[in-house]
Amino acid sequence: MRLWMMLGALAVAVPALPAEITRNKNRGRGSMWWGIAKAGEPNNLLPMSPASPHMDPAVYATLRRKQRRLARENPGVLMAVARGANQAIMECQHQFRNRRWNCSTKNFLRGKNLFGKIVDRGCRETAFIYAVTSAAVTHSVARACSEGSIQSCSCDYTHQSRAPSGARDWEWGGCSDNIGYGFKFSREFVDTGERGRNLREKMNLHNNEAGRAHVSSEMRQECKCHGMSGSCTVKTCWMRLPNFRVVGDNLKDRFDGASRVMVSNSDRVRSNSNAIMSNSASNSVHGHREGLARRHRYNFQLKPYNPDHKPPGLKDLVYLEPSPPFCDKNPKLGILGTHGRQCNDTSIGVDGCDLMCCGRGYRTQEVIVVERCACTFHWCCEVKCQLCRTKKTIHTCL
Ligand SMILES: *[C@@H]1O[C@H](CO)[C@@H](O)[C@H](O)[C@H]1NC(C)=O
Ligand SMILES: *[C@@H]1O[C@H](CO)[C@@H](O)[C@H](O)[C@H]1NC(C)=O
Repeated sequence: MRLWMMLGALAVAVPALPAEITRNKNRGRGSMWWGIAKAGEPNNLLPMSPASPHMDPAVYATLRRKQRRLARENPGVLMAVARGANQAIMECQHQFRNRRWNCSTKNFLRGKNLFGKIVDRGCRETAFIYAVTSAAVTHSVARACSEGSIQSCSCDYTHQSRAPSGARDWEWGGCSDNIGYGFKFSREFVDTGERGRNLREKMNLHNNEAGRAHVSSEMRQECKCHGMSGSCTVKTCWMRLPNFRVVGDNLKDRFDGASRVMVSNSDRVRSNSNAIMSNSASNSVHGHREGLARRHRYNFQLKPYNPDHKPPGLKDLVYLEPSPPFCDKNPKLGILGTHGRQCNDTSIGVDGCDLMCCGRGYRTQEVIVVERCACTFHWCCEVKCQLCRTKKTIHTCL
């Protein structure tokens, strides 16, 4: 145990070490399911009869045993997970379209991580990936419930039974998106394999939770009036999920202000006592131990790396090490580099040529772009356009 404590202290004290210790083995084990976004056609995911849930073997291979069980027990849910994973990729690429790291994905191959080797590092980009994928599963499953495409859930009607109408001039009614189910399912499915025993797994768990929190906190009430000619004699309301773009925008803000963290002292004590317990625990108390681990899984406080900073809040993203510069191609780290990327020569932001091209300079070209233009609307209902050739100046990084 003393040796363990010393190693922990070393990792904090020596700046060169964290990159090594967070590599690969410490990624956490919960990220392979992302591959579901690319594996096979959606049809492969539709086990139309619950008795024969035949899945694309490539999909199957991305799932851990517990995730397969969840898919079996909740017919229809895998389709929602796949849709969520794709939504996460699209949102990530939108949010990062003008940055050096642009959230590109690998062609899915068995055993390869969808977002590439960057997730082996505990940096901000990795934090965003975990949060946005967890949020997307929460969102997609909650919506699929209310659309009736998952057998084990439906619209959320709990408001109706819980809240007495009292003095309100409206009633709960209609079909609320099932955020409760989406949240719980995301915890079960997405967090599988993240036991929270080391700092990297705690980072993953924190960011997964943050993603879910950003979905549930943007739930909004929608209402509809019923009654004679639009009068509002009866008004019914329900809870609606946010547009996923809102979640993406908020997560991107948290990315910009992400907190660098390290293990806190109180946390070390707890990890130690866990280690003692698992060492002395026999098979007979396995269930008990697991229950305990589950209770502790989200129950930790990460400590800010800079003692002058506030500890991270529930919706903050957390990371462990600075991001690599992403300037030059580095296959070992899974970095594509910014050679050939388009940049904006008048911007002083991250999309500007200075920052995007890392000071290497850029090439300016005139290109002819063919676009639809001078469109006119013809009754009814046709839009006719001309094809225009316009000259554009584009800048690409050397
Ligand atoms: C991301 O950037 C790389 C080059 O660094 C480029 O090849 C790729 O097309 C870009 N991907 C997206 C989704 O913009
Ligand atoms: C380039 O950056 C400037 C200043 O930020 C902005 O006004 C302009 O719209 C950008 N151009 C393109 C093509 O994005």
